[in-house]
Amino acid sequence: MDKAIQIEEKETVGSIAVRSNRARKALEDLGIDYCCGGNISLAEAARKAGIKQYELVDRLAVELAKSEAADAEEREWTVAPPEDLIEYVLSAHHAYMKTVLPRIKSLLERVLRAHGPAHGDVLTPLDRIFRRLSAEITEHLYKEEEILFPLMRREAEAAHSGKARPFCPCGTVANPIRQMQFEHDNAGEALRRMRDITHGYALPPDACPSFKALYDELQAMEKDLHEHIHLENNILFPRAERLEETFSGR
Ligand SMILES: [Fe+2]
Ligand SMILES: [Fe+2]
Repeated sequence: MDKAIQIEEKETVGSIAVRSNRARKALEDLGIDYCCGGNISLAEAARKAGIKQYELVDRLAVELAKSEAADAEEREWTVAPPEDLIEYVLSAHHAYMKTVLPRIKSLLERVLRAHGPAHGDVLTPLDRIFRRLSAEITEHLYKEEEILFPLMRREAEAAHSGKARPFCPCGTVANPIRQMQFEHDNAGEALRRMRDITHGYALPPDACPSFKALYDELQAMEKDLHEHIHLENNILFPRAERLEETFSGR
């Protein structure tokens, strides 16, 4: 993020929304209409939102900078060796999941003990969905680490060195990939249900710091899992399938 982000004074809210999804979401968070009423200046939008113009510009500049950094990183992953992307997924996302799941589990136990009697309608189903999600993710990570990723590595290595396609006990790499995508969909559905049950992680008025920590951790986990699944579904898996196709053309 070393490049200065330019926001012209005359730029409209609508044009900023088109430049970056992150900026669009920031506008949404601030209650600023960027679609139907997007043809207004930033000064006017700031006035309507009840904030200073420089605060709005600063916030949008941060979001635009983050978008550029994320776009650059994503572009790199589409051309970097797939083994590097696997290493990144393992160190950035699998490692995080292995630490956050037990942390959320113990927070949930604590919050259920203290608030179960008053908020069991939310906490009991939340606990049930989380426990199942946690068990499924743990198994999912294991399958990727022990079966799919080693297979992808072997195929990438063979392709680079001009060797024949290595033996694949699952038939083709597409088979375990389909299973992982199915499990990703299930995880996404569990995240949506947890968000629904908690009304968008809205804390009750009597929430204690542990309750707040629980919701913060769940939301951070949701965001991380979305990024993790995006990297696998949209970049890593298609690359592994294309790479495997190169063996049939030899
Ligand atoms: Fe993964
Ligand atoms: Fe996965």
